[in-house]
Amino acid sequence: MFITIEGPEGSGKTTAVKYAVSELEKMGYQIVMTREPGGTPISEQIRDVILSKENTSMDARTEALLYAASRRQHLVEKIWPALKEGKIVICDRYLDSSLAYQGGGRGLGVDNILNVNSFATEETFPDLTLLFDIDPEIGMERIAKNENREVNRLDLEEIDFHRKVRQTFLDLAKRYPERYVVIDASKDKETVEKEVLDIILKRL
Ligand code: TYD
Repeated sequence: MFITIEGPEGSGKTTAVKYAVSELEKMGYQIVMTREPGGTPISEQIRDVILSKENTSMDARTEALLYAASRRQHLVEKIWPALKEGKIVICDRYLDSSLAYQGGGRGLGVDNILNVNSFATEETFPDLTLLFDIDPEIGMERIAKNENREVNRLDLEEIDFHRKVRQTFLDLAKRYPERYVVIDASKDKETVEKEVLDIILKRL
């Protein structure tokens, strides 16, 4: 089972999923928790290039291709082998982040980004995608308060960019209703954590 978690910055997705992972492990499930961009040494190196605040001149298509390249390497080295071994893979961001950020936010078009990613992933779609939906203004406020989180190049985009990202995610949830579940991430932490665990358990 391949699960991805998506949503804007400050949606609390990473924390909420950590709780679900620890509960599932207690129940005896074997879980590989990973993230994008990154997850393997080569993918992490690509991540550094993409997210560096110094790379202000990066072209939008270059950005899209780098995310896809990082994803490909991550699949080959980590995700596919784990799925073959029958493990549950939970990935913090995946293909839908590219569709929302590069396709929607950058305006490259969801279908163009889907084409590039079909090549990169050989059509490996998640079985379940949890979308942590939140107003981008609340999300940005939350990350501003979080001193442990380093601000990256995409965080620095205008609020309008983040609004387009959110809308694209919501459109994707309608386009792929069989794998998408939308979670209201403005609710309190414990409620969201429980919801995530329930949704995953139901699918298992
Ligand atoms: P990260 O620090 O991992 O952010 P978060 O904690 O919000 O997940 O940074 C990843 C950034 O990259 C984030 O701003 C979203 C963006 N992104 C894309 O634009 N396209 C993609 O395909 C992926 C995977 C991430």
